[in-house]
Amino acid sequence: MSAEIESVLHENRVFDPPAAFAKAARVGSMQAYTDMVARADKDYEGYWGDLAREHLTWSKPFTKVLNQDNPPFFKWFEGGELNVSANCLDRHLNSWRKNKAAIVWEGEPGDTRTLTYQELAHEVGRFANVLKGKGVTKGDRVVIYMPMVPELPIAMLACARIGATHSVVFGGFSAEALKDRILDAGAKILITADGGWRRGSAVALKVMVDDALKGCPEVSTAIVLKRTGQEVAMQEGRDVWWHDAIAGQSPKCDPVPVDPEHPLFILYTSGSTGKPKGVVHSSGGYLLGATTTMQWVFDIKDEDTYWCTADIGWVTGHSYIVYGPLACGATSVMYEGAPTTPHAGRLWEIVEKHSVNIFYTAPTAIRALVKLGDEWPHKFDLSSLRLLGTVGEPINPEAWMWYYKTIGGERCPIVDTWWQTETGMHMISPLPGATPIKPGSATLPVPGIFADVVDQEGNSLGPNQGGLLVIKRPWPSMIRNVYGDPQRYKDTYWGEFGGKYYFAGDGARKDEDGYFWIMGRVDDVINVSGHRLGTMEVESALVSHDQVAEAAVVGCPDDLKGEGIFAFVITKGDAKNDDALVKTLRDHVAKEIGPIAKPDHIKFTDALPKTRSGKIMRRLLRDIAAGRETRGDTSTLEDAGTLESLRKGE
Ligand code: PRX
Repeated sequence: MSAEIESVLHENRVFDPPAAFAKAARVGSMQAYTDMVARADKDYEGYWGDLAREHLTWSKPFTKVLNQDNPPFFKWFEGGELNVSANCLDRHLNSWRKNKAAIVWEGEPGDTRTLTYQELAHEVGRFANVLKGKGVTKGDRVVIYMPMVPELPIAMLACARIGATHSVVFGGFSAEALKDRILDAGAKILITADGGWRRGSAVALKVMVDDALKGCPEVSTAIVLKRTGQEVAMQEGRDVWWHDAIAGQSPKCDPVPVDPEHPLFILYTSGSTGKPKGVVHSSGGYLLGATTTMQWVFDIKDEDTYWCTADIGWVTGHSYIVYGPLACGATSVMYEGAPTTPHAGRLWEIVEKHSVNIFYTAPTAIRALVKLGDEWPHKFDLSSLRLLGTVGEPINPEAWMWYYKTIGGERCPIVDTWWQTETGMHMISPLPGATPIKPGSATLPVPGIFADVVDQEGNSLGPNQGGLLVIKRPWPSMIRNVYGDPQRYKDTYWGEFGGKYYFAGDGARKDEDGYFWIMGRVDDVINVSGHRLGTMEVESALVSHDQVAEAAVVGCPDDLKGEGIFAFVITKGDAKNDDALVKTLRDHVAKEIGPIAKPDHIKFTDALPKTRSGKIMRRLLRDIAAGRETRGDTSTLEDAGTLESLRKGE
């Protein structure tokens, strides 16, 4: 960790917001920013309460902004009622935005679709009626496993319309991972597709679903969108085609008003122990967080064409492709496929084609695009861009500078947004018309968020001292629970500092200007291409193979992905530790979790470095995986010889 601190300390470039940008921005100066922070500090409830009244449409006004009677189970906007889909759709239909493009969609093979707010509302209404017809009611959980097609947000909004809680499972997850999530959520209905297009081929989804549903007897209905036209088996009585289901349905379906605390969605994310956690998000507070940051951080305006390249299977897609943009009445571009299909300039081609003004992607994508060479972005007209964003992991200053110069033409501010599945909204990020930016820093908390860097006792640390990143007050779009496991929610997020602060699991430091520099996870979580994977999950997948006796997984540096996965594996007596087994194990992990979790390196060993109490010393394994000298104390190691033999690769 100390090495990371040192390397970023050399970064002292600062870029002020361009004057014209600042002049037109929603938050146009540091003065405006600090005024908002001061107001929030002085009158926290008044601040968020006013924003909730200004930005959301309530069918019943709330009477209390924040109820803190039973921490950490905080309640926001008590007494109120609203419907999230009505906030994303209906309220625009009474305005000129009725015929404005809500979603501009590009399929990978080159097919396109544009849905106006009116059209989107009708599709959502029809599909909400389908769900109702299938017996789905308020509070039911609906799992969605789909490619990046407009029917995915349509399905989400249809759930929201009738008060059902959706759980979107990323289409890259395996049948096994899908099954676990369906079972944990207790879903009886699944929405899916035959497949989706990715890198020129039709990736099968329904086949995975068929496999997953063998272990989910409670699922009585699967609605299947025809996207690729590939051959699928439809199970009589359970599976119905989307197009058959919506035929003849009314486009109108009254929105069901819900309590602002009503769970809008569950999204599974990795933790350091056990199975993935179902992060539960609310309706009112969540939508407020997504909407306000859409305006502050992305400075979204009615004229903008905005594009976030994330997959909706992750939180970024929930907050910043679906709910944030639509609640703001924005035009959101959605792309189905791979960034390099059919050519390495596909993203830039889409920017040119739709005159994209705001572009949001991940550092891992930027690093991959850098490698492809400047000739690709240079082939296309990127002059429409006015703002760039990144999310998911720290961005190295070199990638930042490339993004700034080659993509942004040195005219676009970059918002490096730090947040998490659990936070629901951007937490630390520049406001592009106000905050001077430094390459590699997420800069300052958004107004109304009180973040700090503390030591293990919870004391604030001074400038440039590395410590733990915490949030000191509950905020509207925060995680409400771990689905079905309130104790895990309490322990994971509020246990570290006795319930006083939310602990994010990240290390960070603040510089002399109070700017935050995120140093990465401090727990056993690996950040692969901006997505979290628990080392435990990969280990469980490995040991579920019959030739594996024990496994330990750590992160290792990876130029493209940020972090790669390094697995140390002890095989059973009769196993042959050869390349064929490496391949088998990698494929096995892909089958258990998904291709994203495939170990990049597998090293066979006879023993793992353990403490006398039997705990694997991952710190030492991380050093080996990174090819570094062992740092720190090794006196608690049970058998010093293990380390030597691991290094030698014996
Ligand atoms: O470690 C931080 C890193 O990603 C984690 C959250 O992962 P996830 O819940 O999958 O959400 C990713 C998209 C919001 C954080 O705990 N992270 C996220 N954004 C940044 C970041 N690290 C550094 N800089 C960022 N901008």
